[in-house]
Amino acid sequence: MEVTINHNNYEVEPGQTILQVAKQNGIYIPTICHSPHLSDVGSCRMCLVELENNHKLVASCVTPVTDGMRILTDSKRVIEARKTVVDLLVSDHPLDCMTCEANGNCVLQDLAYEYGIKESTFGTKKLPRFEIKDQNEFIQLDPDKCILCGKCVRTCKEIQMCNALDFVNRGFETKVSPPFNQDLGGQDSPCVFCGQCVEMCPTGALTYIPSKGKGRYYEFNKTKTTCPYCGVGCQLE
Ligand code: FES
Repeated sequence: MEVTINHNNYEVEPGQTILQVAKQNGIYIPTICHSPHLSDVGSCRMCLVELENNHKLVASCVTPVTDGMRILTDSKRVIEARKTVVDLLVSDHPLDCMTCEANGNCVLQDLAYEYGIKESTFGTKKLPRFEIKDQNEFIQLDPDKCILCGKCVRTCKEIQMCNALDFVNRGFETKVSPPFNQDLGGQDSPCVFCGQCVEMCPTGALTYIPSKGKGRYYEFNKTKTTCPYCGVGCQLE
């Protein structure tokens, strides 16, 4: 099978997604909700590309290649669509990068920089809307900074098999939460504080609680340690 990406020909295998073929050949497509370690759900639409065959915009992480497909990853339409995606994500996101724990380690911040989005043209929703969950020693959950990509939910379900996080509510009220709206350290929370959700989170929605005051990711030294939580003795870094 063969496809063209930006007018160049590439051999592809059946079942590969457009994103996989692009990555394999060093072609940049921005992503948020995609991770090679998780199932793909196509929720963020950041990875949109244009199909010349039918002039449709499709999410490249969930669209399999077909023989003769002609793909554009950087057409004017694609860039405009990606700008709109970032614009919409920023519209209900706090613009407090200067004091955010994830400053310098935030995919949304990087994409806003890349596409020149300083503030949303859709206006900004009144914040805060949700309560911060930080009644434990390890992980803070700030649902106002969540862009609902679902990476933490899938990580907890598919890698850690804990199901400590899921989506609750509908529409603008949708957020990620432990069961019964409790804290991650709540009595009925199955969270084992493995920290994998924090590592996957593309924004400052899930961050570590520093043991001594404040600190951003580049101010910490990572060190190997043994998880004290359940007694299995997992080695963490
Ligand atoms: Fe493809 Fe989010 S990365 S839809």
